[in-house]
Amino acid sequence: MDANQLRRAFTGFFVERGHTLVPSSGLIPHHPRAPLFTNAGMNQFLPYLLGEESPPYPRATSVQKCVRIRGKDDDIELIGRDNTHLSLFEMLGNFSFGDYFKADAIPYAWELVTEIFGLDGDRLWITVHVDDDEAADIWHDEVGVPVERIQRMGGDNFWEMGETGPCGPSSEIYYDKGAEYGREGGPLDGDEGRFIEFWNLVFMQYDRQADGKLAALPRRNIDTGAGLERVLSILQGRDSVWDIDVLRPIIGGAESVTGRRYGADADTDVALRILADHGRGMTFLINDGVFPSNEDRGYVLRRIIRRAVRQAFQMDVERLVTPALVAATIEVMADAYPELARNHDFISGVVQREEERFRHTLRAGLVLLDDLVASGTTSISGATAFHLHDTLGFPIELTREIARERGIDVDLAGFESEMDQQRRRAREAATRSDEAGTGAETYRELLDQFGPTEFVGYSEYESKGRVLALVGDELFLDRTPFYAEGGGQVGDTGTIVTDTGRAEVLDTTYALPGLHSHRVRVVEGGLTPGQEATATIDAPRREAIRRNHTGTHILHWALREVLGTHVKQAGSLVAPDRLRFDFSHYGPLAPEELVRVEALANERVLANEPVRAYETTKEEAERIGAIAFFGDKYGEFVRVVEAGGRSVELCGGTHVGALGMIGPITVVSEGSIGANLRRIEALTGEASFARFRRRDDTLNRAAALLRVTPDEVPERIEKALEERRALEHELEQVRRQAAGGDADRLAADAVDGVVVARRDGGSRDDLRELAVALRDRPGMRAVVLGGAPDGGGVTLVAATTKESGLAAYDLIVDAARTVGGGAGKGKNPELSIAGGRDASKLDAALEQARAAAGIGR
Ligand code: SER
Repeated sequence: MDANQLRRAFTGFFVERGHTLVPSSGLIPHHPRAPLFTNAGMNQFLPYLLGEESPPYPRATSVQKCVRIRGKDDDIELIGRDNTHLSLFEMLGNFSFGDYFKADAIPYAWELVTEIFGLDGDRLWITVHVDDDEAADIWHDEVGVPVERIQRMGGDNFWEMGETGPCGPSSEIYYDKGAEYGREGGPLDGDEGRFIEFWNLVFMQYDRQADGKLAALPRRNIDTGAGLERVLSILQGRDSVWDIDVLRPIIGGAESVTGRRYGADADTDVALRILADHGRGMTFLINDGVFPSNEDRGYVLRRIIRRAVRQAFQMDVERLVTPALVAATIEVMADAYPELARNHDFISGVVQREEERFRHTLRAGLVLLDDLVASGTTSISGATAFHLHDTLGFPIELTREIARERGIDVDLAGFESEMDQQRRRAREAATRSDEAGTGAETYRELLDQFGPTEFVGYSEYESKGRVLALVGDELFLDRTPFYAEGGGQVGDTGTIVTDTGRAEVLDTTYALPGLHSHRVRVVEGGLTPGQEATATIDAPRREAIRRNHTGTHILHWALREVLGTHVKQAGSLVAPDRLRFDFSHYGPLAPEELVRVEALANERVLANEPVRAYETTKEEAERIGAIAFFGDKYGEFVRVVEAGGRSVELCGGTHVGALGMIGPITVVSEGSIGANLRRIEALTGEASFARFRRRDDTLNRAAALLRVTPDEVPERIEKALEERRALEHELEQVRRQAAGGDADRLAADAVDGVVVARRDGGSRDDLRELAVALRDRPGMRAVVLGGAPDGGGVTLVAATTKESGLAAYDLIVDAARTVGGGAGKGKNPELSIAGGRDASKLDAALEQARAAAGIGR
């Protein structure tokens, strides 16, 4: 069986047994309680497992892409060094949401493994949780596994999604590879290399709370997960996942780009495996919307790319390797994940830029580390490690690895304390108090009792509802026209009024998915649960918001038209006064691109096509090409918004009825907000008009000042600037002539080739220029000029010729002291300039200079 056959065989088996085949969700999970990355098949079913939503199907099966780096298990260091760990892997699973339980899940697994996979039952071992007699009995009594091959484990047989969340006892299936792989004794006592765990059946019935306690889930569920790569290595008779058909060809790609051969030596093998694994990981992560950055998911991606690049760098491979790894991955995986092929160029561009940047960093960091090693250091200080990390972007893991290779230590404690200090600084900067966690229990209870809030605000701005609860400043209604902040659109504001009180709604958010929380200030009387209420949103504000929301869709469409379909939404803000749209793109937009985007958008507005919103199935939405950026929504139904004939997106937001209602769309800025991320800001409707008005007023004011019509302003300014340049030129000439005339007069008064004179009013530079010009005339030996430039202070300048034998400094050193200043002995003996404060002593000072020059009276 190859990978494609295995995926089909597994899911086909369960579809035949009444399971709905659900596509893999993205690697960025959406549920508030989900881990950093999708780490198991069950993630996308969290709302059903936790009882927040009722499952649309009682049983499901999937092949889920998963990433487990830095979530619960940080095993990136192991990747490439053993036969099992991968950054990205696929998990085959079957799920029951309160439908069947152990008695069916166990026999299903056995049947599939022995009959469809054709594994020899005698080679299979089972583990169950120490307390799970029920599972042990089913394995023995129903399935017929002999008791000696059923072993009991503690922690290993209790699966948890993360620190908190769904969990339960589990039962694992192991394959015995045979005596040549190690000691016998089963998974419990035998060798790890011999007994390979490949399928985990979780009997999911608890929800681990933040305080560590286990709460019962509303239903008992089944969640199983079989690692596709491990199963394949067993079915394909390979000793390691690296030799199976989804990985070996990517190692081939790594071989060709590095020019090394797999199997030649152990170190190279590790490096090639790291390249292959990380290439696969980076391709999938970028495809699912992660970008290299210094935080959270972006940091994990950056770490993967950088670890790969470092392998190549260490092997002295000069050419870029990551684009080749991406290409090799896509070649292998695009059958099962066709979107990879569509995004190929884009993914390639992202890794390439990151690799180029990092190679630069590597060179700089290595130089620094090599210098340290050369200086005989035995340990890299915390401060140096922090500097490498913080300033150069050289990851601490790399510093550690390099240090290890060169046999020196890294002061990790010192590094950590630098990091702590930095975190503390960051915390202090963010003054917001931490109130997370309050009320979570209450929210869940409200949802359990009353179900999700009925949102009527797509069509109604005012509606009647019932007050369900008032918790602190949060008010809950059974139905509401208030839109809860989501999908970039800000929450509504307005009023909620009952017979006895009146509250202003300051904001609306989701307390939990589906549960609208109105943040209120009670301004009159009081409101109590059970009362009927009239809820009214601020309609003009909402009108402005919906103009901006539809405007965002149209701009998004126009950006893709102009720049290409790699443009992906990375975030947005839809507020009453403006809209902001963040998207992936590699460089700044040229001015003419921006103009085209704006023009295209406004063309759509003028075409005034209707906007339609409707619910449909995911499949249907996909078929008509709806763009869904945040990937998967839970449930079968999604809301599609068609803004005119061209823009189709999945969106829960509120929109105008026809494009003409948006009014003019004006782009006000475009810029970078990070690597490969751009932000565009725009206005619509009244805000656009207000901006036109302001600009027009400014232009009119300028026209009035210039005494021309507004249309003539630019030309008039150009002309004025030209005139100014001509005048400046003329002025300069006049000044030169005047200076020349003055120099003539002064030269005529020279005594013995020496001039000492006072010239006020000019600048210090004027004085120096005059002195030098004078000195350079024939017959001159020395010039001393003194002046009190406008604005006070005194300047003395002495200039001498070489032949005179006079040092300029000597001529004014005393004089300078007299005016309360000092002359410095500069580098040039023929020119000296001094400053002073006391202009009233200037004449006396010049007398001194005369004496010094030997022409004193
Ligand atoms: N959630 C369990 C696991 O990931 C079974 O799917 O192992």
